[in-house]
Amino acid sequence: PLTGTGDVVAKALSAGRGVGAFNVIQLEHAQAIVAGAEAAGTPVVLQLSENAVRYHGSLAPIGGAMLAVAEAAEVPVAVHLDHATSVELVEQAVELGFGSVMFDASVLDYERNVRTTAEVVVRCHDAGLWVEAELGEVGGKDGVHAPGARTDPAEAAAFVAATGVDALAVAVGSSHAMLTRDAALDFGLIAALRATVPVPLVLHGSSGVADEHLAEAVRHGMTKINIATHLNQVFSTAVRAALAADPRLVDTRRYLGPGRAAMAAEVTRLLAVLDPAVVG
Ligand code: G3H
Ligand code: ZN
Repeated sequence: PLTGTGDVVAKALSAGRGVGAFNVIQLEHAQAIVAGAEAAGTPVVLQLSENAVRYHGSLAPIGGAMLAVAEAAEVPVAVHLDHATSVELVEQAVELGFGSVMFDASVLDYERNVRTTAEVVVRCHDAGLWVEAELGEVGGKDGVHAPGARTDPAEAAAFVAATGVDALAVAVGSSHAMLTRDAALDFGLIAALRATVPVPLVLHGSSGVADEHLAEAVRHGMTKINIATHLNQVFSTAVRAALAADPRLVDTRRYLGPGRAAMAAEVTRLLAVLDPAVVG
């Protein structure tokens, strides 16, 4: 069933598990993520970035489909707006029934990030939504890999107090949209942030992080683990293979179906990686 993001994340935090938060572009992504989570028997977060909304031209068609897929799921599924920079889009997500938003003012200076984020928090909390924000920009959003940024633990604690956010995305060495899984995370910094910041921590750009380092990030205190690029890679590899195997193939189900199935299997595998009880 559709479940509040706060609920899903809080349960994982208290159990010492990571929550997989996987990005949706097409309907098939949402179906693959939920099928993979059902096979794992684990709650999951479906998230839609402002970028993906732009691709569709508006929020309602794909956002409504995500909510419908979540409602029909056999495991708890949260629906989240990812990397929103537009207050207007946040408002639309509230209206549509999303459970949470990530408001990304990380490119702004500290004071303006605090001010804008705090306003979004008031609006979302009024409507019962959970809010994630980012401090210390995680690189790669513009296609440039900049794993150098780091979030300062004291500043992070002050930011959470000043804005009232429910979760914080932090820069600890990952970078968005990496095609290789060789990012070096700063585990000491993750532990320091966990000790200082009173809300769950979010790892962005997790596609670039190897399995064992994802598990270690969870052990050191990361809770919401955002993965997009890696699953698109798995999806697209299967689509490419299906198309290459039959040059006369035209029915889109014949290649999107294998993409969806491959992505579902990878979601199941990743969810086990994020659960220290499974990995050991
Ligand atoms: O917000 C989404 C994530 O940070 C995804 O990043 O595409 O590098 O996995 P990724
Ligand atoms: Zn991100």
